[in-house]
Amino acid sequence: MGGPIGQPGHRQIRDWRITPSPSRHTRMNPILTVLAGNALSPPPVWLMRQAGRYLPEYRALRAIKGSFLNLCYDPPSACEVTLQPIRRFGFDAAILFSDILIVPHAMGQNLTFTEGEGPRLSPKLATAMLECLTPARHHYIAIWDTVRRVRESLAPEKALLGFAGSPYTVATYMVAGEGSKDQADARLMAYADPGRFQALIDAISADTLHYLSGQIDAGADAIMLFDSWSGSLAPSEFERWVVRPTAWLVDQLRKHHPDTPIIGFPRGAGEKAPAYARETMVSALAIDESTDLSFVCANTPDTLPLQGNLDPFALKAGGKPLTYALTHIRETMAGRPHILNLGHGIDRFTDIAHVEQLLAELRG
Ligand code: CP3
Repeated sequence: MGGPIGQPGHRQIRDWRITPSPSRHTRMNPILTVLAGNALSPPPVWLMRQAGRYLPEYRALRAIKGSFLNLCYDPPSACEVTLQPIRRFGFDAAILFSDILIVPHAMGQNLTFTEGEGPRLSPKLATAMLECLTPARHHYIAIWDTVRRVRESLAPEKALLGFAGSPYTVATYMVAGEGSKDQADARLMAYADPGRFQALIDAISADTLHYLSGQIDAGADAIMLFDSWSGSLAPSEFERWVVRPTAWLVDQLRKHHPDTPIIGFPRGAGEKAPAYARETMVSALAIDESTDLSFVCANTPDTLPLQGNLDPFALKAGGKPLTYALTHIRETMAGRPHILNLGHGIDRFTDIAHVEQLLAELRG
């Protein structure tokens, strides 16, 4: 990537022949064992958005704290919410309770979450200039404190995942000032004023590196990069705005934290997912429910850990459809390093009994 923090055009291409090997501290920890390239049966499991509104204990604490952001910036509460699904279900990983939009907030945009409307960021960069924002990096401190608290309270066999949005997905929110169906404002800016869009991607990348390094220093065992909107991009745009910044971030994180695995989630990338894994050099690839796992298996090396890709609506349906979907995934992934997860976040009206069914069938 170009700009102030990257070497222009810098790209490494993965050597698929390198086989990961488990390090000392992974032996007792199923998620880290799989992320080091080993297959386990049954596979370890966690669910995207596993801490959230489908849990009554989350809704209760959220009501007391008043708003989602208050929860995120209150480390004892955020720690409690992170641990709730581990206590209830015994998942193999906890994921930090926070949001990908903490980075725009720390870069100086105002952030609010209004019930039923989703997030709002102002001023939106479709009209305002990046230079107008006053950085507020102190917002990261509370999140790092949460990571420290969770790692101290979590059993060693459970992994703690830190996360951030990938620069492109974060940029779509910063440009539009809200979620949008087709990310039109950001995609248009990327074509109409690529220099300006590149400067934004570079600024987000720099902040994200700082934020993620802090999470790792505070005790995160692995990192996940959410690129929720990467699927809407044309292939050459995908290469420029998803692959290159992600490759840069992975490279920079590895320099300082060579042992911390990084899970990349290029949601909707479909047939571009194997090239994404090869070119970004992420340690593992998370797959959404619309992508054929056997295609990904056939086009990546056997040692690349994969995560996913149960349809959140198969989980919401429960019963036989859930059994069928789970069996299909397990048959496809047999013998491969695999972390069972959803292809996207759990729907907020999912019945807790269906999560229990999933775990009972998985663990026999
Ligand atoms: O997975 C987890 O349990 C960890 C916490 C987590 C949240 N958001 C909590 C949250 C994670 C990893 C995220 C990531 C996130 N946030 C993404 C990437 C993953 C994805 O879903 O594609 C994105 C795009 C966001 C941005 C975001 N945050 C939106 C669009 C919304 C509103 C949507 C909604 O359902 O209301 C949020 C709010 C949010 N983030 C909630 C939670 C639990 C709901 C907040 C509430 O309690 O009202």
